[in-house]
Amino acid sequence: MKALKAYAPASIGNVSLGFDVLGAALAPVDGSKLGDEVEIQAADTFSLEVTGPFAHKLPGDLSSNIVTKCYHFFCEEMQKAGRAASPVALTLHKNLPIGSGLGSSASSIVAAFTALNAYFDNPFDKDTLLTMMGELEGQISGSVHYDNVAPCYLGGMTLMTGAPSPLTLSLPLNDDWYYAICYSGISVSTAAARDILPKQVDMATALTFGRQLGVFVHALHAKDFALAASVMNDVIAEPYRKSLLPGFDEARAFSEKVGALAFGISGSGPTVFAVCSSKAQAEEVSAYLSKHYVQNEDGFSHVCQIPKAGTQVAVQ
Ligand code: HSE
Repeated sequence: MKALKAYAPASIGNVSLGFDVLGAALAPVDGSKLGDEVEIQAADTFSLEVTGPFAHKLPGDLSSNIVTKCYHFFCEEMQKAGRAASPVALTLHKNLPIGSGLGSSASSIVAAFTALNAYFDNPFDKDTLLTMMGELEGQISGSVHYDNVAPCYLGGMTLMTGAPSPLTLSLPLNDDWYYAICYSGISVSTAAARDILPKQVDMATALTFGRQLGVFVHALHAKDFALAASVMNDVIAEPYRKSLLPGFDEARAFSEKVGALAFGISGSGPTVFAVCSSKAQAEEVSAYLSKHYVQNEDGFSHVCQIPKAGTQVAVQ
């Protein structure tokens, strides 16, 4: 029987200007991995093993692990489609920190579904699988939003359509942009970071949000990257969420001082990102963040780009 391993990259949710509808996959430029992996092989009964640097931060009860939930959900959907699923042994390599704003739960979910779908000879198409991934992500964060699962699954920068199919659109990328990203080491729950947001936005904020997103999409297609960067401002969440992030204002000020194009919170934080016009500039911001934004031994920073590919499967 075959054995497979699926890798699913970290991602930036919101990308500042697209709350809940825009996301981007991440790949460190030094070639290191920044994403969870799920291995799958045949077994007599279902089992899950969890390893990796952040395995100890997950609940010990494996039946409540999101990967176990993915397996049961996948089997139910197989049954509805008139197909049989056999027991498998899964191993989750938990490489991403939990509550980091790097799409950690999305990475586990995407790796699990990708491994399952490949193992069972691709019974589900992309939109169906993505819908399943969004549903599981919603179970964890309290609301269904695809801004992490979509880029993690598909790669690139993705915009959600709000329609069942296509669920998502891929935006053009600028190969010259580098992203300095830094996880501070503290954990921020997405549910808590959503609770502190107002339930309604005023008219001026709504107009700015719509204008920025429209201009951004146009500017990427027109390859006017200076214009695109000029509208990467978060008018929805950052004003409220930054109070949860020690050192945020100083990090933003440093990033602006060295000429970074934009700065913001990755997903619901505490990870922050700076959009930089060169690798050297991203390295300078990354070094600052490593020294001043990181709060404990769990924190780290990387210079990344947005990969064109999302999740990947390898035969073991
Ligand atoms: N769009 C979500 C939020 C992303 O900002 O709450 C969470 O990773």
